[in-house]
Amino acid sequence: MAKGRSSTVFFCSECGYESSKWMGQCPACKSWNTLVEEQAAGAALSVRSGSRRGSIPEPVSVAAVSAGEAGRVLTGISELDRVLGGGMVPGSLVLVGGDPGIGKSTLLLQVCRNLSQSGHKVLYISGEESLSQIKMRALRIGEFSDNLLLLCETDLSVISEVIRKHKPETVVIDSIQTMYADTVTSAPGSVSQVREATNILMNIAKKDTVSVFIVGHVTKEGTVAGPRVLEHMVDTVLYFEGDRFASYRIVRAVKNRFGSTNEIGVFEMRGDGLCEVANPSEYMLNGRPEGESGSCVVCAMEGSRPMLVEVQALVCRSNFGIPRRQATGIDFNRVNLLMAVLEKRIGLKMGDCDAYLNVAGGMKMNEPAIDLGIALSVVSSFKNRPLPSDMVAFGEVGLSGEVRSVSLAQNRVAEAVKLGFTKIVLPSANMKGITGSYDAQLISVANVSEAIDKCC
Ligand code: TYD
Ligand code: MG
Repeated sequence: MAKGRSSTVFFCSECGYESSKWMGQCPACKSWNTLVEEQAAGAALSVRSGSRRGSIPEPVSVAAVSAGEAGRVLTGISELDRVLGGGMVPGSLVLVGGDPGIGKSTLLLQVCRNLSQSGHKVLYISGEESLSQIKMRALRIGEFSDNLLLLCETDLSVISEVIRKHKPETVVIDSIQTMYADTVTSAPGSVSQVREATNILMNIAKKDTVSVFIVGHVTKEGTVAGPRVLEHMVDTVLYFEGDRFASYRIVRAVKNRFGSTNEIGVFEMRGDGLCEVANPSEYMLNGRPEGESGSCVVCAMEGSRPMLVEVQALVCRSNFGIPRRQATGIDFNRVNLLMAVLEKRIGLKMGDCDAYLNVAGGMKMNEPAIDLGIALSVVSSFKNRPLPSDMVAFGEVGLSGEVRSVSLAQNRVAEAVKLGFTKIVLPSANMKGITGSYDAQLISVANVSEAIDKCC
């Protein structure tokens, strides 16, 4: 009896927290009613500890290990290569997460097409679509070579056999939630199945030096279904962001063992698949109103790349006792804080005003460097005075209204100049870091009131 009891464990279906007894609330992520009972992974564990017996491995000197950097394989999609840190590393495990219908299968099929055309042997395994459905999608995307093999299968022991037999260099698993390993008895998509399946795939990737892309669906909270466990098992985690209704998609690296994180790739969904957007700033600023109040262009860093976006504010008299404040694409609390700074330090009486803020294009920005732009757009809308249309602002705003320095100011200035902006408002503390001459007027400001005096 005791054995039976100990062979099941409880997993949180949101974060993967493991517990030996059931609880109403997960102690790790604090969500309610998410603990589900599953078989303990006893069988798999004994296999793993079994392999440890036998000879003891010798540690090697770091100097004797080759880096393998030269072995990077380009996917032929440069936006994706950048997010991966300069191409795909052979033997790596990449998790691609995102909402349903956002373009995960499409992007990976495009990767398969490019790789197979350059002579790479690729195996695309789908547990969700039939061969003819994949073919229909492939026809929209373009020409495919014979090097791309398709397989509809969900049993991982079969999949391992097929990989061993055909020896592909790259494997795509679409999606991890449909796969099952027969060593675990719970249903596909459950935490222990997903974890075990990933483990098997990781062993295949490392042992046979196969690059594996895993598609993972996300929960409504925005994490890969079930497991954060899965996130720390794989080498790279890429997330698709963006509105399903807007045509652009952003692929962001949130974890990367082979490159920097928070790097983004921008794509546009077209009739023939995802196309790269080489100059995202230009794309985001498309259709910007000129000479209207409440609009300010800001420069935020997305990974190593500066990106210009338009912040829009609409401040108007409230018809109700409690004014409404709403923010899309930026943190609501940050907007409230900046409006409080404007009230207290500048003396703008906005207590009876509604305020709506929006980042045009549907981007989500959370870098403090956009503070100054938010403040200026609010003031511009409140005073109904447009800001110069060729102006870009960046800088972090502190609680005393000071404008603090931000990182990589030089890159931001260069990007703004490249896109033809001629007035750049920046923190005065950043001025000494800017070298070289630019075809633009650099307006250095020490606090918000100075910025308002100089701009609107
Ligand atoms: P898909 O890659 O199937 O999403 P996921 O695998 O993340 O669930 O993307 C499907 C969406 O993309 C669907 O709404 C149709 C659209 N789409 C295009 O607009 N153009 C195309 O060429 C393709 C293949 C899909
Ligand atoms: Mg899909």
